[in-house]
Formats: sequence, structure tokens, C-alpha cells
Amino acid sequence: MSTPPTAPNRKGLVLAGGSGTRLFPLTLPFSKQLMPVYDKPMIYYPLSVLMLAGIREILIITTPHDRPLFERLLGDGSAYGIALSYAVQDEPRGLADAYRIGADFVGEEPSCLILGDNLFYGAYLTDMLVAVSARTEGATIFGYHVVDPRAYGVVEVEHTGPNSAKAISLEEKPEHPRSSLAIPGLYFYDRHAVAYAAALRPSPRGEIEITDLNRRYLAEGTLHVEVLSRGTAWLDTGTHENLIDAADYIRAVQNRQGLKVACLEEIGLFKGWIDRATIAENAKAYGKSSYGDYLRMVAADGTR
Ligand code: TTP
Repeated sequence: MSTPPTAPNRKGLVLAGGSGTRLFPLTLPFSKQLMPVYDKPMIYYPLSVLMLAGIREILIITTPHDRPLFERLLGDGSAYGIALSYAVQDEPRGLADAYRIGADFVGEEPSCLILGDNLFYGAYLTDMLVAVSARTEGATIFGYHVVDPRAYGVVEVEHTGPNSAKAISLEEKPEHPRSSLAIPGLYFYDRHAVAYAAALRPSPRGEIEITDLNRRYLAEGTLHVEVLSRGTAWLDTGTHENLIDAADYIRAVQNRQGLKVACLEEIGLFKGWIDRATIAENAKAYGKSSYGDYLRMVAADGTR
């Protein structure tokens, strides 16, 4: 399947702060996004999504005390062929706050924001991400059928074709949702995001709401919605149940196929950003772990 080129200058943001209260006491000492999802830290999964979309310049936003831990884990990103930088959010002021913290980093470039606790996996996901990323005008959000959308932002759509939909309304954590489409924590914006976010006022719950940023695009008539197919997994990992479900899912897929989900070095290789020799060299630091074994296999041309 041919895919259009990714907007070359699109910036990536991973919002990996928050307080993780639903996972207490696990998250009392450190960030939720450093918790394991089976065999790797949670943040690998959202990072892999940005990389699959073709995004190489990424800002990781963390709490002040977690920042050194993320830096120790991921460094400057060169091991994966990407450029990572770091910023802090002093307190959880809301999702759209990412565009205030990241204002200088994003500037007037297109961008993509992903939440640090969101995990996506599925066939054709990469093609879709690359296609969405190539759009330079407007914003793109996603819709995903869930049993109970009340805990999420919800989008009501009008279908304009077999694979296309137009947003009619957006609701934030509605008591009586108008649709079953929850909005996952993955958002693509054009060059206006920083300016639009700067104009937002805190909501009654005191947060700079991503739904308000999306409403601005809806009002401008430039909000695209992609409804994720049934074959796509979208898992969030904010509760103990979700966390173990996600780990079980990753374990089942990986053990069946012998291929790892969200191996950042493998994605870097697949994108042509690093070579096998670099992976072989970096694998040495991973000792006898299954991740180290996998890196050695990738470096020896075992999977592609
Ligand atoms: P939430 O799950 O809404 O909040 P949380 O992570 O603080 O957890 P809890 O509800 O258990 O207290 O956040 C979703 C994601 O967004 C998560 O990855 C943390 C991140 N986040 C921030 O980094 N900053 C923020 O201001 C908010 C609201 C969330």
C-alpha cells in the first residue's frame, strides 16, 4: 500500500505527567508512564506511535521529579534515530497545557500529541498514521467504539463515506453520551495549535481542556475524525485492571508471533533512521533480557 509522505517538520509531544492517583500506591514514588506494560516501560508504546507516524523530533513532558528518570531511560533518542527533548509540567493543568509548555518547541509547525498512557496497536495503523500526518491543514482526532464512553471525550459523527466521517459534536465526559465513540489520546494539529491553545481558558474543573482545543477546530470547520477500525486495539492503562489487560494483550501478541510490539530500535531501523550495526552495539547494554535478545535478532536481520 503506498502512503503519502509525512509532513517532514511535524513535531511530536508525549504528555507523560499527571498524578496517577488511580494507581496509588504504585505511582507514589514515580510516574505511571514508567510502569511496565509486560516487558517494557509504558512510554515505549506512545513513543512507537509517533515514530510509526514518521515523527522524529519529540518533546516528552513529565513531572519535575520524574524528568531525570525518563532521561535515564531514553536519553537523547539517538539509539532509536530520533531527537528527544524534555520539559516539565509542574502540576496537571490539563491536556491542552502541553501546547503552552511546548509552545517554543512546536512553534508554527504541525504537530501530534499523544498521552503517555495510551497504547495503540493494529493492522494498517502505520499507513493510517502516515496518511493523517501528511495532512497539513486542520486537526485530526480519532473515534473508537467503546462500551461505556462516559469517562472520555466523546465525538458524534456523520459518515461521509465508508472510511470518512465528519464531527458534529464534541462532549467531555458526558453523563449521557450522544455516541459510543470515545476520543483516544492521540491528536494531530496544524500550525495553529499553539495560538489556539494560548487562547483557551480553564474549564470549571480548572483544566485547559483538549476538548476545547478540538472545539476550536470544529468551529473553524477543519476538524477531521478518523474512526478506528475494529481491528485496532486502543488501550489506556490508568487503572490496575487496564494495566494488566494491556500487559496480557502485549504478551499474547508477542509470544504468538515472536515479534515485539513497540521495539523502538526496530521501528528506527524500519524507518531507515538507524542501521543494524547501531542496534547490535546498543544491544550489549541489555544483557540477557528478552529485549536484548530481540535487538540482536533484529540486528542480525531476523525479522525483516
Ligand atoms: P489521566 O489518566 O486523566 O490522569 P492521571 O495520569 O493523573 O491519573 P489519575 O486519574 O489516576 O490521577 O491522564 C491521562 C494522561 O495524560 C496520563 O498519561 C497523564 C497525562 N496528563 C498529564 O501529563 N498532564 C495533565 O495535566 C493531565 C490531566 C494528564
